[in-house]
Amino acid sequence: MRTPQYDISIFTGRRKELGQKIKGSVYIIAANPEYYRNNDVHHPYRQDSNMFYFTGFEEPNSILVFRPGRTPEAIMFVQEKDVSQETWTGFRYGPEGVKKNYAVDEAFKISQFEQELPKLLKDVDQVYYTMFINRELDAKVMKIVEQSAWARSRTNKGNISIVDPRVVTGELRIRKSKYEADMQRRACEISAEAHIEVMKATKPGINERALHGVFLRAIMERGCAREGYGTIVATGNGATTLHYVFNDQTCRAGEMLLVDAGGEFNYFGGDITRTYPVSGKFNPTQKRVYQKILDLQKKLVAAVRPGQTRDLLQKEAVSGLTDIMIDEKLLMGRKEELIEKREFAKFYPHGVGHWLGMDVHDAGLTDINGEPRLLEPGFVLTIEPGLYVPHDAPGVPDDLRGLGIRIEDDILVTETGYENLTVKCPKEISELESLIGQ
Ligand code: GLY
Ligand code: MN
Ligand code: MN
Repeated sequence: MRTPQYDISIFTGRRKELGQKIKGSVYIIAANPEYYRNNDVHHPYRQDSNMFYFTGFEEPNSILVFRPGRTPEAIMFVQEKDVSQETWTGFRYGPEGVKKNYAVDEAFKISQFEQELPKLLKDVDQVYYTMFINRELDAKVMKIVEQSAWARSRTNKGNISIVDPRVVTGELRIRKSKYEADMQRRACEISAEAHIEVMKATKPGINERALHGVFLRAIMERGCAREGYGTIVATGNGATTLHYVFNDQTCRAGEMLLVDAGGEFNYFGGDITRTYPVSGKFNPTQKRVYQKILDLQKKLVAAVRPGQTRDLLQKEAVSGLTDIMIDEKLLMGRKEELIEKREFAKFYPHGVGHWLGMDVHDAGLTDINGEPRLLEPGFVLTIEPGLYVPHDAPGVPDDLRGLGIRIEDDILVTETGYENLTVKCPKEISELESLIGQ
């Protein structure tokens, strides 16, 4: 027997907010599918962020049909109780348990979805549903919507439109409530502490995989269920691959190590990158380039405030990094021209940051009506300038080959400016040198 791990009023409150925005329509959201890992074993399950956001329900094979202003309003379809299945994979709430524990008006077995949905779509002219995530469900929903549309056309009520809900739900998720900011803050604190554990464990001869293990242990000990995304532990030239996935190399003295990792706490994830020398001591080149990127990163963080835009921050990042590239003889020519021709992208091919929340690249539009959107209090974004010089890049100074540096913090926009949620994660050279290998 289990009981919900979260205060259910969080989820009913979110549905209420959604209801005000889509009144008269119906929102259908499904659980993430389960994926096979090997033979009959699944990957660890993680609920879809929107499904969790509006229900708090963590089981697969479930669907919420939300009909603001109608009766019944919130209807869930879930796995039925099944003693023999539960013997293998654990407790299921079943329809009764869901109705009792998850504050919904009705609950059915998932096998009843096709039978019940037509009734729930009666007299509805707009359905919010995201296509192309679960093709099997798409086919079922489309068939029923089509039937409902035919029924409506016979009574001259017009067609049914299907709308992608992610614009509306993204607008809710991008503005963190106090509770959400608290969860986000804790995820970031835990991630910062776990990075410190990795710094302490770093030494020549250790494998990237062992450091990954140190991070996992540290976040789980502190209450995280999992990582927020695939952890990157990249030594040497591996750090020049933006989303390096192998995590299997041995760290060697003389190399820099890039660790991009975040823990997921109550479905909110941190996203921190730190780069430092495996030996614990920056060599002169590493120190010079690192300090330049750190100065720029701090300048970008300090520029976060309401009314600022990510677009402007990106322009500042490009300008600062292009200066560094010219200074370090990675690029030659007039700065304006190098930017115009996007030459900087050879060594800085990504953006300055992204929204952060339940998804590492979180929901919410970046532009409104074609214009960069203004930052508002409650938004969380990453600031992560970087410089990457692959070992085989043509015509670059030899001492920069194989150097990949990214420094990433998570920033909450406040009424008056910003709060750096990852401030506890050291990034000054002296702090790093005193921690590595200790
Ligand atoms: N960890 C992925 C990113 O920084 O975007
Ligand atoms: Mn990031
Ligand atoms: Mn990252």
